[in-house]
Amino acid sequence: MVKRGTPRHLWSAVRWQVRGRLDEAAYRRAGRRFYEGGSWTHTTWLGENVFKNPLDLWVMQEIVVETRPQLVVETGTYRGGSAFYFATLLDLLGEGEVVSIDVRDVDSEYLYPAHPRVTYLGGRSSTDPGVLREVARRSEGRRTMVLLDSNHSRDHVVAELNAYAPFVSPGGYLIVEDSNIGVVRRDLLPGPMEALRAFLEQTRDFEVDRTREKHHITFNPSGYLRRIDAAPSRLPKEAVPAPVAGR
Ligand SMILES: C[S@@+](CC[C@H](N)C(=O)[O-])C[C@H]1O[C@@H](n2cnc3c(N)ncnc32)[C@H](O)[C@@H]1O
Repeated sequence: MVKRGTPRHLWSAVRWQVRGRLDEAAYRRAGRRFYEGGSWTHTTWLGENVFKNPLDLWVMQEIVVETRPQLVVETGTYRGGSAFYFATLLDLLGEGEVVSIDVRDVDSEYLYPAHPRVTYLGGRSSTDPGVLREVARRSEGRRTMVLLDSNHSRDHVVAELNAYAPFVSPGGYLIVEDSNIGVVRRDLLPGPMEALRAFLEQTRDFEVDRTREKHHITFNPSGYLRRIDAAPSRLPKEAVPAPVAGR
């Protein structure tokens, strides 16, 4: 007897793919609604205003505990809440300091939370040569993690990526924030996602760690970059195996 119609296993493969796409669309929509709801703009950590998605904060906490940075560098201080957040985590772990950089003068508008582990470098851009010299000095020989959360235009983020990537320790993280701008604020494009694409095209030192997007709703899609342990940048690109399909 000749079988008619589409075989059952093909139907289930199609169903599985369609469901995956619908889930992705649902997460994107939920992410947009969460951003538009604005609760993240008045979220606090120990009373200090942090301008981040709490799911990302949780993931950052996991990264800090796993990688034990001795120096956390953040560009973009705003109210100082995120610098304070990292400082209190480092307190619990018993080691490390935070350097937070903002183009605004320190105390120009807000009183930043004071904490003995935090140094605020204010009044100069994150790409200012003097600021970079100071970060280079502090990161020398120390496990260093970097978060880029200042001006989110593509060109500035590319400049920051090139300037700050060398400070990140092997196995450590370089976090590019607000790469969801293409979903939530198209008027601000090109932004961090475009910067990430340009950066990842010209380096083999970092990989996107998708496991850090496990909660699905993140402001930093493709933005959790892990520095590969051995520095393979001096290998020709052809010598680096292609990524495994599906990862
Ligand atoms: C998104 S807010 C930072 C939020 C903060 N990291 C938090 O999570 O609470 C961005 C900050 O970047 C600062 N900024 C803008 N352009 C900058 C630049 N070129 N260099 C350093 N900081 C800059 C702004 O003044 C603003 O305070």
